[in-house]
Amino acid sequence: VWTIVVAAGTGERFGRPKQFEDLGGRSVLDWALSTAGAASDGVVTVLPAGHAALGSDASTVAGGRTRAESVRCGLAAVPEEAEVICVHDAARPFASPDLFAAVVAAVRGGADGAVPGLAVTDTIKVVDRDGVVVSTPDRASLIAVQTPQAFRADVLRRAHVAGAEGTDDAALVEAVGGRVVVVAGEANNRKLTHPVDLEWARRLLSDDAERPR
Ligand code: CTP
Ligand code: MG
Repeated sequence: VWTIVVAAGTGERFGRPKQFEDLGGRSVLDWALSTAGAASDGVVTVLPAGHAALGSDASTVAGGRTRAESVRCGLAAVPEEAEVICVHDAARPFASPDLFAAVVAAVRGGADGAVPGLAVTDTIKVVDRDGVVVSTPDRASLIAVQTPQAFRADVLRRAHVAGAEGTDDAALVEAVGGRVVVVAGEANNRKLTHPVDLEWARRLLSDDAERPR
């Protein structure tokens, strides 16, 4: 089992590359890396081009313009013998080791891919370019998905042809006919997207520290 941690984004919505922000004395990226490291036989970290040039470690590579391109940069550094490959967002510091184990187990159990998902609590609308509502999908059939996402290595490599784009890796695997299953996601496995998300994460840590053991 190998994990690609993608950390090459620019953090446009956050205002700066959020993966390098401090969270309880370590970087957000460091949180993701330590869980990924404990849950996998090897980790490839995908960093912004400038950063990667600083390291000589083969397990650190430079990313691309889009998330999918960054994953492809990481894939090129995953050894051929890897059977299961997980892809994880550096911007999700609180994914648990159990969540990694759950997605990997689902792939070992026969799925091409496995993603953590939570039922959506907001009603979702499909809108056109002018912001006019086109339709309202039945909420019962909607799942908000997270990372880590696990895949059969051969299927993920086949899905990631040059130029393929999507907001997650499962979308690419689905596009080549792969069977992707959903496992229970985690409420605290929030992606830090806006500054308020980092404030939430810091508060969660300090609440934890204050709680009597
Ligand atoms: N990512 C990446 N390479 C890119 C774009 C994104 O490695 N070219 C990574 C981010 O670093 C992040 C994860 O993919 O860990 C999820 O992406 P997102 O939350 O969208 O982060 P950013 O793309 O950095 O943020 P924004 O979309 O607001 O610019
Ligand atoms: Mg992005």
